[in-house]
Amino acid sequence: MGVITIDGRKVNFTNEKNLLEIIRNAGIDLPTLCYQPELSTFGACRLCTVEDDRGRLFASCSEEPRDGMVILTNTDRLRKHRKLIIELLLAAHCQTCLTCEKNGDCKLQSLARRSGQTTIRFENYKEMVPLDFSSPSIVRDPNKCILCGNCVRVCAELQGVGALEFANRGSETMVMPAFDREIGTTHCVNCGQCRVYCPTGAISIVHNFTPVWAALNDPNVRVVAQIAPAVRVAFGQAFGFRNGENVIGKVVAAMHRMGFEEVYDTTFSADLTIMEEAAEFVERVENGGKLPLLTSCCPAWVKFVGDNFPEFSDNVSTCRSPQGMMSAVVKEYYRDKKNNPDGRKTIMVSVMPCTAKKMEAKRPNSFTEGEQDTDFVLTTKEMVDMVLSTGVDFDAIEPEAPDIPFGFGSGGGVIFGVSGGVTEAVIRRLVPGNDQHTMNEIAESGVRDGEEETFIREFTIPYNGMDVKICVASGLANARKIMEQVKSGEKEYHLIEIMACRRGCIMGGGQPRLTNVKKSVVRRDGIYAADKETVVKKCNENPMVLSLYDGFLKNREHKLLHNPMFFAK
Ligand code: FES
Repeated sequence: MGVITIDGRKVNFTNEKNLLEIIRNAGIDLPTLCYQPELSTFGACRLCTVEDDRGRLFASCSEEPRDGMVILTNTDRLRKHRKLIIELLLAAHCQTCLTCEKNGDCKLQSLARRSGQTTIRFENYKEMVPLDFSSPSIVRDPNKCILCGNCVRVCAELQGVGALEFANRGSETMVMPAFDREIGTTHCVNCGQCRVYCPTGAISIVHNFTPVWAALNDPNVRVVAQIAPAVRVAFGQAFGFRNGENVIGKVVAAMHRMGFEEVYDTTFSADLTIMEEAAEFVERVENGGKLPLLTSCCPAWVKFVGDNFPEFSDNVSTCRSPQGMMSAVVKEYYRDKKNNPDGRKTIMVSVMPCTAKKMEAKRPNSFTEGEQDTDFVLTTKEMVDMVLSTGVDFDAIEPEAPDIPFGFGSGGGVIFGVSGGVTEAVIRRLVPGNDQHTMNEIAESGVRDGEEETFIREFTIPYNGMDVKICVASGLANARKIMEQVKSGEKEYHLIEIMACRRGCIMGGGQPRLTNVKKSVVRRDGIYAADKETVVKKCNENPMVLSLYDGFLKNREHKLLHNPMFFAK
């Protein structure tokens, strides 16, 4: 507690963890590259340097606030200092900005503009190193790395994976997987959080839009798409809409114009997932099956279990993810000649908030009858780029509804986009009643965040005379904590839901970038608002789902909705 003078203005502070936070709270957006409020302080970039009344320069992110401090943030000396840092970073950076994936979204680029950098006086003596294309989800370009360490810390601290590290010393320092292995051969779970936190183009998404455009232009191909629940509340961010605003109708309309013949809503297959997963849960509880049941819809989490807790492999639900179910069902539908009289090939494209879905689509258990179910996975960011390339006026385009029969989902399917959504949908399925009072009671059972954000939530619900113990968590570091406790016998649950990204898919590695988890509340609330607008709240009351089970799905449930085997080798 105390008062600090910043640029001549008195500013009160309470429990801010460093001087930088106080300066930002005072409305001064000091430039930074390596500071992330949710990660440990690294103090590498020195851009946050300020000056005190004795002329001392120091990094504000690493300075503890003291009552009576007098700070200057914008002197000539500081401006020169920042400009020089940016110039040195640019000099050591591969300067292919115009063709870089992060062009327009690069923090280094925007700071260069902000600091008025117009020339680079120094030569780049760094040797170019090869790019790492080994991952199905992300591309590493070490030539664009500025050694801020954000990716190293997010992978270790938030995700508990530690696939990236610093190697070598001095001017040879690089970020890479241990022993300079290719990232695709490590325990990387493909969550893409490193790409979200990377301020430059050193880590980017593997792009799949070129083959998708080719398919869209091929008259012998039927291109069918699905859009995941979390996409609707983040897509608009790239077009100046309020973050959290539900723009699914506009995305559907834009995709129809691009030539996607059918555009479905993954909330439909999320309903199928809950039908199957709730049945599997009840079956395991009643017949002494493996418990806790671990949810299976997040592919990064599934890989994390296989890599770190293989003894729990049989606890993972055998249900395919909503992406997998939708693609398997649609492909099967068109395998039937009467639904495909002209014999055209069907290409399934999914639009996902998640980079790990690209890996899931290629897992050996994502094939049916030898055919890959989902041909191409595009992240939200890639679909944004596709829409931009068409020149469609996203602001003006009239919303369109997803197509039928696989485009109608319940509210339970919509809330898959947030952490706790799968569990909440399972509870909706299992308890009787569908009125507002019942829905509110479920929402308040502990499955959702309260006033404070909680990335691990434990609660109990009564079901059939027993107390069902549930744990919902997001962020793989939190998942590791829970699994260690379950393994040691310290904790016991019937059901564990994990989403690899904190707050769930709304903060997925393929969404328009948002690193501040506090700000993601608006996306979460957007999902809950979208649920409120749905007519049907429960998967088992979705008429499209019921008619599918009654007809087309009969005797094909296992083939299309479950995984023939679980872990990709
Ligand atoms: Fe303080 Fe980088 S933000 S050193």
